[in-house]
Amino acid sequence: MTGKNWKVFNPSGARRVVVTKALPGDRWLDILARADARVEYGIETRILSVDEIAAAIGKRCDGAIGQLTESWREALFSALSAAGGAVYSNYAVGHDNVDLDAATQRGIPVGNTPGVLTEATAEMAVALTFAAARRIPEADAYLRSGKYEGWLPTLFLGEMLSRKTVGVIGAGRIGAEYAKMMVEGFKMDLVYFDTNPNPALENHIREFSTFLIAQGEAPVNVTCASDVEEVLQQADVVSLHPPLDETTRHLVDEKRLDLMKKNAVLVNTARGPVVDEAALVVHCKKNPDFRAGLDVFEEEPEMKAGLNTLQNVVVAPHIASATRWTREAMATLAASNVAAIFRGWPVSTDPSRIPEFLEHPAPRAAPSIVNAKELGLPTL
Ligand SMILES: NC(=O)c1ccc[n+]([C@@H]2O[C@H](COP(=O)([O-])OP(=O)(O)OC[C@H]3O[C@@H](n4cnc5c(N)ncnc54)[C@H](O)[C@@H]3O)[C@@H](O)[C@H]2O)c1
Repeated sequence: MTGKNWKVFNPSGARRVVVTKALPGDRWLDILARADARVEYGIETRILSVDEIAAAIGKRCDGAIGQLTESWREALFSALSAAGGAVYSNYAVGHDNVDLDAATQRGIPVGNTPGVLTEATAEMAVALTFAAARRIPEADAYLRSGKYEGWLPTLFLGEMLSRKTVGVIGAGRIGAEYAKMMVEGFKMDLVYFDTNPNPALENHIREFSTFLIAQGEAPVNVTCASDVEEVLQQADVVSLHPPLDETTRHLVDEKRLDLMKKNAVLVNTARGPVVDEAALVVHCKKNPDFRAGLDVFEEEPEMKAGLNTLQNVVVAPHIASATRWTREAMATLAASNVAAIFRGWPVSTDPSRIPEFLEHPAPRAAPSIVNAKELGLPTL
């Protein structure tokens, strides 16, 4: 049994599921209750420690849903396994907070929630791009503080991005969506780097360019760069969208920041450690025309010393996926992963089928289990 900071839904359910935070909407609760689960969810806003989560798992727990801010590694998978746990789902698309090997060794499937964060996160990257380029938070604070004395030719000069070059590092679901928004919205050229190039994105941009030419407008170009450096050197705005792993930790460091244009914009909605945040603070201090828009930080909820006083940095508290639709869809997918494993259903391996899981009736399958192959789970 969990304590006073936990709520219970469907108390008579035969299976016990621990969910470390209350999720939005109520469809997720319904999905779990229909799989005969008693759901115990945490109502505290602070990040729970590993010990607190292990205590909540207790002696008997059939499944769990956790957050990207929690460390789901040896200790928690061993607690879940000892409690009879059959499944864990991350309430996120990224799973850098999960030790997949630790889960796989104990036969525990790990779910995630891909696809439903794509547009919301790309929109947030666009919002941060322009908030930084056009200095919106700085101007907002200035106006509210009563300093505005009237229109001035030199007040808050920023950067125009139309017809300039947008750079993307990691052109998967979110990176490609952001690229299309920037190219189609602002007719920018695209230069991108991905360890796994995206020909569908390149075709899309070429088709858009053909359309522009047919309208009598100048074309746009797309370049698949051979390395990160090429993107950093060429682009006027660079947005980061790779997963966090050993290949992307401090992908943007002091040396690479120095390659960027002095008035470039750097946007990070991926994961904090993809950027060396201390090096970014130094770079932004040295280059007042350089701007950054950050949704994620190396040691959340903290910011590295000096970051919060920099005028040329726009910050948001990891809210890129925070739209009601997205967060409810994430809850539906996370609950569906857990319920499907309870019911012995197969795992869907086709990302294009994710929207079907938001419909009624949904497929009788788990929407996304990242270690399905390693565990030899049956697929749809
Ligand atoms: N801020 C937020 O709230 C938020 C929301 C959603 C996702 N995210 C982050 O965004 C990441 C991307 O999500 P997605 O759905 O687009 O994933 P995705 O798997 O569709 O795309 C990731 C892309 O990065 C590429 N990549 C991998 N390693 C690379 C490297 N070393 N250099 C360059 N490219 C590399 C992959 O080939 C892939 O194309 C997630 O892993 C997550 O960490 C953050």
